[in-house]
Formats: sequence, C-alpha cells, structure tokens
Amino acid sequence: MTKINSTSPDNVLCTVSQVYKSYGSQSVLNGVDFEIHEGEQVALMGPSGSGKSTLLNCLSGIDRPDQGSIEIGGLEITSASAAELAEMRRGTVSTVFQFFHLLPTLSAFENIELSLQLIGVSPRDRRSRVEELLEAVQLSSHADAFPETLSGGERQRVAIARALAHRPRLLLADEPTGSLDTQTGDSILQLLSQLAGQFNIAMVLVTHSVDAARICQRTIHMRDGKIG
Ligand SMILES: Nc1ncnc2c1ncn2[C@@H]1O[C@H](COP(=O)(O)OP(=O)(O)OP(=O)(O)O)[C@@H](O)[C@H]1O
Ligand SMILES: [Mg+2]
Repeated sequence: MTKINSTSPDNVLCTVSQVYKSYGSQSVLNGVDFEIHEGEQVALMGPSGSGKSTLLNCLSGIDRPDQGSIEIGGLEITSASAAELAEMRRGTVSTVFQFFHLLPTLSAFENIELSLQLIGVSPRDRRSRVEELLEAVQLSSHADAFPETLSGGERQRVAIARALAHRPRLLLADEPTGSLDTQTGDSILQLLSQLAGQFNIAMVLVTHSVDAARICQRTIHMRDGKIG
C-alpha cells in the first residue's frame, strides 16, 4: 500500500485497512476498509450496535483495533505510543460527541480556551482565537455563560468551537445532534458542515438520519462489521 503523508498527491488524509475489533466473543469490526480525503465530509450510517462508535473510537485513538492499520496524516495510529496519540488528539484529530462533554465548572470561553492552553498557545493568541470561534458559532454574547445555563444547541456549539480550536484536519462527530430537537439539530449540522468547509477540515459524521447524511459529500454504511 502507498505510504500516506501530509503531501500525498491524491490528498488522502486517512486510510483504514482491514481493521478488526472484538469484544469478548463478539466480533464488531470485521475487516473495515476506507479512505478519507483532505477536507472531505463523509457520513457514516448503520444500524444501532453495528460498530460506528467503535470505529470512531479507533480513529481517535481512544480504542485500539485488534488487527489492521489506521493511518492519519502520516501517523500509523495502531502502533503509535500513548504520547503520539495524545499529540494527535491535540493536533490532527478532534471529536464532537452526542452529549457535549463540556466541563461544568468552566465558562463557554474557558471550555474552548482550555484546548489551546493544553498546546501552549499564548494567552493573547488564545483570547483572539476563542473570540473568533465564539463568533463563528454565534455565541459571542454567551462567552461567560456556564454550560448548565446554556441550551442543548448552545452547548453543542461550544463543543464544536472547542473541537475546532486547535485547527484539526479531521473532525469525528458521533451523532452530534442525537440529543437535540430536529430544528436545532439541523442548524448544528449546517454549522458543522459550513465550518468544516471553511477551515478545510475532513469530517466523519455518524448519523441515523438520511437527511443529515445529505450534508456530506459521501455516505458509507457499516454492514456486518464492514463498510458495505
Ligand atoms: N467497551 C465495550 N465492551 C463490550 N462491548 C462493547 C463495548 N463497546 C461497544 N460494545 C459492543 O459493540 C457493539 C457495537 O457498539 P457501538 O457502540 O460501536 O455501536 P454503534 O453502531 O455506535 O451503535 P449506536 O448507533 O447505537 O450508537 C455493540 O454490540 C456494543 O454492545
Ligand atoms: Mg454509537
């Protein structure tokens, strides 16, 4: 297989090859293969329990496959060290979850700022970047609000701003509208797609909604532990 790196001529950002993962005797991923190009938005669909979150967790390095290869931005993450994986999560890859996972004791501003603090961005640059992101997700007026005082859609917009703060190349979104009403969910999807496009970030969007999948350029399906 061709070695992928950041200057790959065909702009492949992520290559998943023959990935297998079992929990006990239950085989969940059964030879998953696909590629994602730089800036490409891909919807990942499939029945409940088909392994979508497991696959995303393998892509983000939270979980490890039993077999196979996952290469993202030139890093073979299946054999990467814990330090390399941490570096990847602070750099190349970012995640948005269904239930936001904001820190309750930090304001919207501070939740976003924290991810920049962790990579050593100076206080001045942090401030301007967080202000820019709050504006991008239309929450400038809620900078000092704590998560418990925000609506679900507002919380998810803070989580999106946080996920984009370090300018990742791949955004993994696992049912980001799963706990929102349809109208709020639609606006969140529009925002995600627009910001990913604006910053040239590739996205894997896990969704059960055919309508939601339409915001992506391509849809892939999990079937029997494979991409069908
Ligand atoms: N940590 C774990 N330990 C044991 N089994 C697990 C674990 N994580 C997932 N599984 C099992 O693996 C299968 C796939 O789960 P996964 O969460 O990836 O599905 P999913 O496609 O994301 O489903 P949903 O659409 O409901 O979110 C399920 O049968 C689940 O019970
Ligand atoms: Mg899931």
